[in-house]
Amino acid sequence: MSYTYENLVFTLKDELKEISSIPSREVQILIESLTKKDKMYYIKNPNEEIPEAIVLKIYNFIKKRQKGYPLEYMIHNKEFYGLNFYVDSAVLIPRPETEMLVDEAFKFLKPKEDISILDLGTGSGCIAVSLAHLLKYKGSKCKIIATDKSFKAIKIARRNATTNKVKSQIKFIESNWFENINERYDCIISNPPYVKKLDKEKFPNLIFEPEDALYSGDDGLTDIKYLLDNVQNFLNDDGLFLCEFGYDEKGDIEKYIKEKTKFTKYEFLNDLAGIPRVLKILF
Ligand SMILES: C[S@@+](CC[C@H](N)C(=O)[O-])C[C@H]1O[C@@H](n2cnc3c(N)ncnc32)[C@H](O)[C@@H]1O
Repeated sequence: MSYTYENLVFTLKDELKEISSIPSREVQILIESLTKKDKMYYIKNPNEEIPEAIVLKIYNFIKKRQKGYPLEYMIHNKEFYGLNFYVDSAVLIPRPETEMLVDEAFKFLKPKEDISILDLGTGSGCIAVSLAHLLKYKGSKCKIIATDKSFKAIKIARRNATTNKVKSQIKFIESNWFENINERYDCIISNPPYVKKLDKEKFPNLIFEPEDALYSGDDGLTDIKYLLDNVQNFLNDDGLFLCEFGYDEKGDIEKYIKEKTKFTKYEFLNDLAGIPRVLKILF
């Protein structure tokens, strides 16, 4: 049987209604990604047949998708801060709430001329690349170091810096947190792993993403506590530390800061849903 864009979407949309809130759009995205033609093209060419090999691939993708495999890994793309990022199962799929880290860092860095930024646990590179992009258009001479302990993530982040034309602004380093870092920075940003290992069963949709990007000890706080213990050794005077954390972790983090650190200038920022999400510490 031969299919056009429209009747393939009509035929397959119900297959995804259990898993997706936008089943028709997901089928469209799969077709567009595999044929490398966008929606506008198919609106202008409504009778064009989708090649049989692609129809077969789409059927296979739909089967994987029904098991919860993320659409972003199938089409190898996720939009973040208005830019396109290549993603595969070696990196976390960037989340919209992480854009807050970029907003906050940019507010802090904007009036400054010559700045240095360290992005710890860069993954797809979404934070470092978006900041480099913003600072490039401001004409700033920023120096960004992006690190990850995963070599595969570093390769992907470097690829995303190249496709988004900010390769020369970012240096990528494979490092276990601060292990290979020898300098101080004006701004340190991190979206570290923060899901509780004990919550693994609670979030079955996360099984396709890398465990090292998600889980951090039974309480989700092992990595955040490590960063809090060490960050002041890598920040310049008047520097800024920004760190994302889990939806229910503000209380434990505040307790740790009060009991185990000397930080006094800190605040917690809420995401658009009103949930505390980002820790901001001024030095
Ligand atoms: C939650 S993901 C964040 C990825 C990306 N920054 C983002 O916001 O989408 C955490 C990242 O930290 C990295 N990571 C985990 N443990 C690390 C460690 N000990 N040292 C450096 N990076 C680490 C993971 O490989 C992963 O890429």
